[in-house]
Amino acid sequence: MAQKTPAGGFQVVVVGSANVDLEVRVPRWPDPGESVVASDSERFPGGKGANQAVAAAKAGGVPTALISAWGADADGGLLEDFVSAAGVDTRAVRTVDCPTGMAIVMVDPQGANVITVVTGANARVDLSDGDLELIADSRVVLAQLEVPVPVVERAAAAAKAAGTIFVLNAAPTANLPPELLKNVDVLVVSQLGARELAAQHFGMYPSDDASLLRALQRLVPSVVMTRGGEGSVVAQAGQDTEVVRVLPVEPVDHTGAGDTFNGVLAARLSDGATVGEATRAATAAASIALTRPGAGPSIPTAREVALALATGQIPPAA
Ligand code: RIB
Repeated sequence: MAQKTPAGGFQVVVVGSANVDLEVRVPRWPDPGESVVASDSERFPGGKGANQAVAAAKAGGVPTALISAWGADADGGLLEDFVSAAGVDTRAVRTVDCPTGMAIVMVDPQGANVITVVTGANARVDLSDGDLELIADSRVVLAQLEVPVPVVERAAAAAKAAGTIFVLNAAPTANLPPELLKNVDVLVVSQLGARELAAQHFGMYPSDDASLLRALQRLVPSVVMTRGGEGSVVAQAGQDTEVVRVLPVEPVDHTGAGDTFNGVLAARLSDGATVGEATRAATAAASIALTRPGAGPSIPTAREVALALATGQIPPAA
């Protein structure tokens, strides 16, 4: 992937949400109208933007900035501490007069989750002139869809104009205008999200991965399609499709594993790695995150990721 000459700015700029997660462990998903009793509840720092920024910053000291918003409340303080402790620059995070975003996360005994996000301050994420400069001065911009899509669209346009690599993690699923997609260099999307995009843009519902990837490559040059326990598939113009497997793991909690993947992918791309190389590091990091509870606290260090890549095994917790 073409690498910009090192600039004075940050290697990675993340545009995205910040939430406090209320995570409850349930024996099974409740049916509509039914109550289930949770064995446990915990509050964790989270939100796709904050998680991905922390994952990028922890991936070997990559200078990372976050463009986000939180409230002037205790949850905002918790998130500020979480991202700052990882070395993420928070000067472009707005403190706004509405509550910090929140997510209600149900986790089942297999570690799978169901998440409801209360948008709160994330609806107020916006880009100032200074933020646009931050984007232009960076090597990689990474965004997701828990903040307003027009903001993501402006970030992508600013990145494109400056020759900055723009990575879009298309989660949660949303309608994505062609004006946004034309500025995306790398699209990271789940299999389900990929089907939605193919339906939105081509009115087609391919059931096999090869047709899905062919469809998405009409929209963006590089696609990384994540397939849960089956790992991911990397599809790039003019190259063979590559399958990257997850490491052998007993998942404890899937929350934050996808964000770890995206943050590490962006960090490695900002170091000049190919999409395939970056995906292998991202997969090792996400595999480790699967073995730990919570979103923010599950994000591994660069050393743990290096060990996992070298041995093909999950390293013992530090
Ligand atoms: O991807 C996991 C994240 O999604 C959680 O931390 C939650 O806050 C939601 O944004």
